[in-house]
Amino acid sequence: MKKIIAIVLVFSFFCFASSLMLVSCQKKEAKVEEEKCPPTKEKKLEMYQMSEMAALMEQMYVDNKRLKERIQKGDTLGTFPKHFLKIHTAKFTDETDNDLFFKQKAKDYIAAQQLIYSDPKNAEQHFNAGVDACLKCHESKCGGPIPRIKKLYIK
Ligand code: HEC
Repeated sequence: MKKIIAIVLVFSFFCFASSLMLVSCQKKEAKVEEEKCPPTKEKKLEMYQMSEMAALMEQMYVDNKRLKERIQKGDTLGTFPKHFLKIHTAKFTDETDNDLFFKQKAKDYIAAQQLIYSDPKNAEQHFNAGVDACLKCHESKCGGPIPRIKKLYIK
């Protein structure tokens, strides 16, 4: 009798352990990559060749993350980063994105970003308006990075 109980115990322990492992594997799989915009067919990240525009966007994201920290610390902000103006000329992954809507939203965004530097006293308010302007374009153009862009807001 004792032997049977021991066997059952060992067996159920293995079941329990393997189900735990299964759960943790599933969790890992559930962590999905941020959707690329426009979505690429390549599955592997290292295969993904960034367009000029995508690279500029990543740069703007990093620059704004740093700018946010400076605003929060009350540091000096310097001058408007001229490379942001490449938004008007950079090559797209998909050139059909370069439509009237994009051109207008790009202008609005640059104007919002410039205000941060020309009126640093209200930097926080202007910064958040700049993030609004990122999102105004992204809501129509590409949804993938929206959760990441939203994290830029100064609360
Ligand atoms: C006028 C429209 C517009 C504005 C404004 C805009 N974006 Fe984008 N964004 C795009 C488009 C279009 C793409 C896709 C570019 C491509 O793949 O060629 C993109 C791509 C991105 C990507 C993904 C790049 C990649 O790795 O594929 C990030 C991140 C991003 N934008 C962040 C931002 C941030 C942060 C801001 C504001 C500081 C911003 N965007 C403002 C249109 C815009």
